[in-house]
Amino acid sequence: MSDGLATLVGDDVEVRCVDGTDRVYLGLDSGASTPALDAVATRVQDFLPWYSSVHRGAGAKSQRATVAYESARDAMLRFVGRDAGSSPGRDDIAVLCRNTTEAINIAAHRIDLRSGDTVITTVAEHHANLLPWQRLAERGVSIAYVECDERGIFTADAIAEAIETAANPRLLAVTGATNVTGWMPPLTGIIDHAHCHGVQVLVDVAQLAPHRPIRPGSGAGNADFLAWSGHKMYAPFGTGVLVGPRSTFAEGAPLLVGGGAVNLVDLDGALWTDAPEREEAGSPNVIGAVALHAAVDEFDRIGWDAIVAHEVALAAQLRSGLASIDGVRLLGPVPGDATTDGQMLAIGTFAVDGMPHPLLAARLSAEYAIGVRHGCFCAHPYLVRLLGLSAQETARYRHDIVVGDRRDIPGAVRASASIATTATDIERFLSAVAELAAGKPEPEPYVQDPATGDYALRSLM
Ligand SMILES: Cc1ncc(COP(=O)(O)O)c(C=O)c1O
Repeated sequence: MSDGLATLVGDDVEVRCVDGTDRVYLGLDSGASTPALDAVATRVQDFLPWYSSVHRGAGAKSQRATVAYESARDAMLRFVGRDAGSSPGRDDIAVLCRNTTEAINIAAHRIDLRSGDTVITTVAEHHANLLPWQRLAERGVSIAYVECDERGIFTADAIAEAIETAANPRLLAVTGATNVTGWMPPLTGIIDHAHCHGVQVLVDVAQLAPHRPIRPGSGAGNADFLAWSGHKMYAPFGTGVLVGPRSTFAEGAPLLVGGGAVNLVDLDGALWTDAPEREEAGSPNVIGAVALHAAVDEFDRIGWDAIVAHEVALAAQLRSGLASIDGVRLLGPVPGDATTDGQMLAIGTFAVDGMPHPLLAARLSAEYAIGVRHGCFCAHPYLVRLLGLSAQETARYRHDIVVGDRRDIPGAVRASASIATTATDIERFLSAVAELAAGKPEPEPYVQDPATGDYALRSLM
């Protein structure tokens, strides 16, 4: 039986259910956002009296805030093994920004990609790792997409083939773990192959970073660029990170321009400061940085062996539990699929026969106090493939969205565990899904809002 490894702020909050009972809220939506670790909240609380401007003030508090901010930056490099001690000879920087989306947008702006170059990515990506590359078409950059099979996975060979057949391949942008199925692609071979062909690699580790160590020598640890978000790793105070080679940021203008990114400004232009500050125009989010630093310290304290063992146990329980419920269809590889053995996070994305996904999510909330996510998880191309939608069905749902009618939008429900989730939590969730899949009657009719597709109970509105 897996116990939680840490406590999160709000773990004991109760919510009122439709039967009038107050139940302890069970959050199974950590794939979207995690509550703060208690240790993170304490560190933030302790820092607040010292809060002040970073890099600009002469006062003692400003100096202390600046040290806190810069030591958080150093901690981010250590977290992915890119500090001088872990990776001698490398010269990487950590840009502190808002989140993974911003980090990848910065990378897309700064990596020297030109007309005729190709970026290779996959259909399994979150929109954050698709749209910034699609926009490069404006610069004449092409995109090659690696397809997945019906399980939602692709092989290292498929990526190798895309690299070998692309015109002027320059960058591979790939996920470290998909936010829909929780599958972790076999990155070690993929990245080695890309590097052999002179192709740089960016790995979106938004889902991976809270669940697996990232170390040079294997997996995402060998990527050139890494992007992640604090709010998915128990530091929900608005900071994300982009790590990459200093040389990428040495010349040229940053994505965001303004104060802090410059050494000198006159009416004709600016002299940019050095990286990483050049990429961080505007007042930095020191609280977010302190929080993220506290989160990675807490991972070290708990230990990665324990974090991985906890995650592996919950992944098996959640995924095989869902797959064994009559009427439930688990998306992605089925438990026991030898190709993906040990490569799945504790994420279960599924559909229940005959029940629209927004209704299922609403019932889990109103009747069981369980919070999950439903929809397409910001990964539309991937969902279309996982759900096996035909071109006609895809065209129909595109039309429905254009006319603002979301009653019938395809999708699924996702449950995702955190460092604090216990085996008992997963049992509670599985028994709720089993009851609903077995046809438990609605306590009163749920009402759907056509504009959002969401269902609610009048008595709880
Ligand atoms: C795999 C993956 N990449 C990128 C993102 C975007 O993260 P953010 O919203 O923090 O920018 C998410 C968020 O769900 C994600 O799961």
